Amino acid sequence: MRKSIFDLLERKGKQPISMLTAYDYHTACTMDEAGIDMILVGDSLGNVMLGYENTLAVTVEDMIHHGAAVVRGAKQAMVVIDMPFMSYQASVEDAVRNAGRIMKETNCQAVKLEGGAEYADRIRAIVNAGIPVVAHIGLTPQSVNALGGFKVQGKSLEQAQKLLADAKAVEEAGAFAITLECVPAELAKLVTERSGALTIGIGGGNGCDGQVLVYQDMLGYTNGFTPKFVKKYADLHSVMLEAFKQYKHDVETREFPSKEQTFAINEEVIEKLY
Ligand code: KIV
Repeated sequence: MRKSIFDLLERKGKQPISMLTAYDYHTACTMDEAGIDMILVGDSLGNVMLGYENTLAVTVEDMIHHGAAVVRGAKQAMVVIDMPFMSYQASVEDAVRNAGRIMKETNCQAVKLEGGAEYADRIRAIVNAGIPVVAHIGLTPQSVNALGGFKVQGKSLEQAQKLLADAKAVEEAGAFAITLECVPAELAKLVTERSGALTIGIGGGNGCDGQVLVYQDMLGYTNGFTPKFVKKYADLHSVMLEAFKQYKHDVETREFPSKEQTFAINEEVIEKLY
């Protein structure tokens, strides 16, 4: 049985929720088999799958293409799909139409959008259309240019008060969960205590109701910069690099393919061809 928003909300204050990003069928199958509660098809696919500098170029079509593959792979996990930059910012109507398209064309269970009180009207309208919403506050990568870079948010009194106000506004608008990205742990804990919504931290400390990581980061898939909040559970980059080098060597030395990977033909048949 696939997890519903009620199954997950039931766990608030009891059992933490595990969430990871995924962008393809096989990764989703493996996460689902591991029992991961929620899979996020993040617009981070712009960086980690498509090689863009940031998430701004990602389109609704990109999210649908990858999102539908993830939904096909996940049987028990709730699948949440990000609404990309400019798919909801311009108007409430855009927001509902694009959230509806994403849900209709992928069969996902919820959408996520970045922003606090200023987007409460979008969240309310999407929820009223029957689509569960995860809000995303703190560091919001779609606003990287306005924020002046990827920095911890909510450190000053003013910023901390704004974060608490944003959390309240998105919850009141109907968001069932709130992603808290790069927020000091004590502040994320306060949001968690004051909110009826689930808080899912990424760089928000262990006082949140759940945690999310980008899977390439936690698997050590890339060998570039790793944010402070990431724990590496594997060194996939080294494993893959070694395998690719070994394959190149085996092809060049004709060690691959060997008899084991080769199809035979009856000798009489082949003789008649000469
Ligand atoms: O796009 C994404 O992967 C995200 C996570 C960082 C939460 O929004």
